[in-house]
Amino acid sequence: MLPPIDALLSRFDLDSATIAGRPRIERRLSDLRGCFRDAAAFEAALAEGNPLVYAVASIEPGPGEGDLHYGLGMLMPGRVGDEYWMTKGHLHSWRPAAEFYVGLRGAGHMLLEDEATGDTRLVPLEANGVVYVPGHTAHRTMNTGAEPLLYLGIYPARAGHDYSTIAKKNFAHCVLARPEGPALVARTAS
Ligand code: F6R
Ligand code: MN
Repeated sequence: MLPPIDALLSRFDLDSATIAGRPRIERRLSDLRGCFRDAAAFEAALAEGNPLVYAVASIEPGPGEGDLHYGLGMLMPGRVGDEYWMTKGHLHSWRPAAEFYVGLRGAGHMLLEDEATGDTRLVPLEANGVVYVPGHTAHRTMNTGAEPLLYLGIYPARAGHDYSTIAKKNFAHCVLARPEGPALVARTAS
C-alpha cells in the first residue's frame, strides 16, 4: 500500500531553505571550530559574532533497507582567512553509501577524499549540475560564490553520518580563495 500524497511529495522554499513542516538543523560559525586551517582568523571572526553558516532541512520517508533520504542544504557565502565557508564534512557511517548532490542555486565546490587512498577531487556544485559522491568518500561543501548556495543531497536511509573521523584528522587538502578561483592545496603545504 502506498502512503498518502503528503508523505510522497515535499515542497521546498529556496529563499528560506525550508521544507514546509520538516525539521531543519542550523550550523553556526562556532560549530566549525577545527575545520579552518587558520585558527587565529577563525577565533577573530568568532569574536565578531556567531553567524549562521549553513542549514539543512531533511526528509526521512522511511528506515527501510531500500529507502532514500534527502536534505535541502543552504550554505551562506563567507570567508575565514583565505578559506571559503564550508560544511563540517563527513563520511557515511555505512561506508558503501553513495550520495547525489544536486545543485539548485548559487556556486559552490565539493571536496571529495577517498578514505582508503586519500585520492582527492575538487568538483563544482552549481545549478543544473549533479555531483556523484561515491561510497567510502569523505565529502565537504564550500560556497565559492557570492550568493547563498542551495543544493539537495540524496542518500540511502541507512547511510548515517560519521563526523568524528573528520573531526580527528580533517581533510588532507584545503580549498583557498585565489584571484583566479578556488585552489586545492595540501594542508601541510599551506
Ligand atoms: C547527507 C549530506 C548532506 C550534508 C549537508 C551538511 O549525507 O551529505 O545533506 O549533511 O551538506 O553537511 P555536514 O553533514 O557535513 O554538516
Ligand atoms: Mn553525505
